[in-house]
Amino acid sequence: SILNKAIMAEASKVKTEGSLESIMNVLINLFTSAIKSACPEINDPPVVVALSGNNPKFGDYQCNSAMALANLYKQQGQKVVPRDIGQKIMDNCQPHPLIAKLEVAGPGFINIFLNKSFILSSISSIFKNGVKPPSLEKKLKVLVDFSSPNIAKEMHVGHLRSTIIGDSICRLLEYLGHNVMRINHVGDWGTQFGMLIAHLQDKFPNYAVESPPIGDLQAFYKEAKKRFDDDEEFKKRAYASVVKLQSFEPEHTQAWNLICDVSRKEFQKIYDRLDIKLMERGESFYQTRMEKIVTFLADGGYLQEDEGRKIMWGGATIPLTIVKSDGAYTYDTSDMAAIRQRIEEEKVDWVIYVTDAGQATHFQAIFGCAQKAGILDNTKHRADHVGFGVVLGEDKKKFKTRSGDTVRLLDLLEEGLKRSLDKLVEKERDKVLNKDELKSAQESVAYGCIKYADLSHNRNHEYVFSFDKMLDDKGNTAVYLLYAYTRIKSIARNAKFTPDNIKELSKTYQVSLEHEKEWKLGKVLVRFPDVLLKITVDLCMHHLCEYVYEIATTFTEFYDSCYCIERNASGEIVSTNIGRILLAEATAMILDKCFNILGLKPVSKM
Ligand code: ARG
Repeated sequence: SILNKAIMAEASKVKTEGSLESIMNVLINLFTSAIKSACPEINDPPVVVALSGNNPKFGDYQCNSAMALANLYKQQGQKVVPRDIGQKIMDNCQPHPLIAKLEVAGPGFINIFLNKSFILSSISSIFKNGVKPPSLEKKLKVLVDFSSPNIAKEMHVGHLRSTIIGDSICRLLEYLGHNVMRINHVGDWGTQFGMLIAHLQDKFPNYAVESPPIGDLQAFYKEAKKRFDDDEEFKKRAYASVVKLQSFEPEHTQAWNLICDVSRKEFQKIYDRLDIKLMERGESFYQTRMEKIVTFLADGGYLQEDEGRKIMWGGATIPLTIVKSDGAYTYDTSDMAAIRQRIEEEKVDWVIYVTDAGQATHFQAIFGCAQKAGILDNTKHRADHVGFGVVLGEDKKKFKTRSGDTVRLLDLLEEGLKRSLDKLVEKERDKVLNKDELKSAQESVAYGCIKYADLSHNRNHEYVFSFDKMLDDKGNTAVYLLYAYTRIKSIARNAKFTPDNIKELSKTYQVSLEHEKEWKLGKVLVRFPDVLLKITVDLCMHHLCEYVYEIATTFTEFYDSCYCIERNASGEIVSTNIGRILLAEATAMILDKCFNILGLKPVSKM
C-alpha cells in the first residue's frame, strides 16, 4: 500500500492524449472511492491492489483490503466478517470501462477481471501515438550524480556500475518527461593534486609550452606518491602547491588542467563506447562554495569542535568532517557545498546519487545535515542514495585481473567485444550477416550484455561479473532478449509488411486478443506504465529487466500456439493473420522502449 500510494502520487489524475494509462492508478482510484463509501467509519483506509498471479480463476488483479479493514473494525470494537466487507466494497465500486467483472472470493478477496475492449484500445493507441509514457502529476527537475571517477586514478568496475545504473535511471526519468541533469562529480580536487603538480614541475619544467608525456598517469601518480612519502622537502612543496591551486594561482591551475585532461580523455573513451552522456562538474567547481558553506554552518551554530576538527552531526551514526585540523576541506565539505548548490542554485526538486553501498552512511549524514541546516526540505525535495553492491569475479572474490591488479575498463570492454564476436561466429551468424550487420550485432551484444547483466540484478546485492553467464543465450540475458526481439521483428518482415504498412493496417484492423495466449500477452503489454512508475519509487532497474523477460517468454508462448502467417508445402504464404502481426509489432514497440531505457541497442538482424 506504500507502493500504491507512491504510484498514485506519481501518476497524473488526468490522462493526457496519447499517453498510456497506468492500470494500477485507475484501479487504486476506483477502489479508494469504493472503500471510502463502504467503510465510512475507517479513517485513511488501506487500499491494497495487486496483480493476481498465474491462476486465471482469481482474475487479473485483486483488491485485498477487506481483511485489513476487518482488523481495523475489530480495533474499534466492532465485529465484522471480512467477506461482508469485500461484498460491500464491490457493491460500492463504480463501473469503469477497464473492468469486465468483479467477484468476491475466499475470505474477502475481490477478483478483478479486465475488459478486453479497454486493453484493445490501449494497445491500438500505440500505433497511433507511439509508446507514450504515462502522464505525470508534475514535471520535476532531477539531478543525477553518477559515474564520478577520480582524476589520476583508474576508473574501476564500481564506477562502471554507477555509470550503467545512473545512465539507465536518467533514461527512465527523461522518458517520463522530467528535466534531468546528468552530472559527473569527478574527484578533481584535494591534496593529491599538490604532489602531482609539484612532481610535474620537477619532471617537465616546460609543461606550460610543451605538452608533458604523462599518458600513463597511474605510473606518474605512483612516482609522485613515493616522493611524497620519502622526501620531507617535497612533501612541504606539495602542501604549498595545494594552497596555491585552491587560490586559483594561474600556473598551478594550468598544471592541474593538464593532469585532469589526461584522465578526462580516458574516461571519455568509456562513455563514447557505451553511448553515455554526462556533464562534468567535479569537486573543484565547489571550491568557493565550500568556503561559503563552512561560514554558513558555523554561523548557524551547527559545527562542533572535535580535537581540532570541525564536525557536524545529523542523521547518521557518524558526523561529517567539515574542516580538518590543518584547515583543509574534505569529501564531506564538498558534498555539503554541492547539495546546497543543487537545491538553491539549480533549484532541483530531486537529487539522486549513484555510488557503491559503502557510501550509504556518508549520504545519510549529508542528507541529515542538509535538512538540519535548512537546505533540504523533505516536504519539497526528494533525495536518494542509489547504492549498489560490489562487483565480484567468478571466484567470488573482489574483481581483479589474474595478476591481482584492478581491471582496466577499456580492456574489459575489448574482451566483451571479442567474446561477443566468438558467440556470433559460434552461432554461424557471420555466414548470414554482412560486415556492417555483424559489427552492429557484435557491439550491441557486447555492450548490451555488460549493461544488462548489471541492471538485471537487484542493485543492492553484490554481483558476479561473468562473461559466460551474460553471453548465455538462455535465461534472462541481453543475448536471449536481443534474439527474441529480432525474431519478433522478422515476423512482419517475412510477411512482407513494412512499419508503414502496419501503421496503415492498424487503422482498419484490430489487434487480436481472442486466443488465451493472445489475451495473456496483451495484459502483460499494458503493464508497461505501471512497471515504470514502480521503478520511480525504489529506483531498482531490475524490475524493468524482469518485465522485459516476461514479455519475451509470454510472446514465445503466444507464438508457439498461434500462427501469424501460414505457408503451404512449397513455402508460399497462404494466409496472414493481421491481428496477430499487429500484436507482434506492438510487442516489439514496447520492447524497443524498454531496451532504450536500459541503454541497449537492438539490431533488426542478428
Ligand atoms: N568520486 C567518488 C568515488 O569515486 C564518487 C562521488 C560520488 N558523488 C558525490 N557527490 N559524492 O567514490
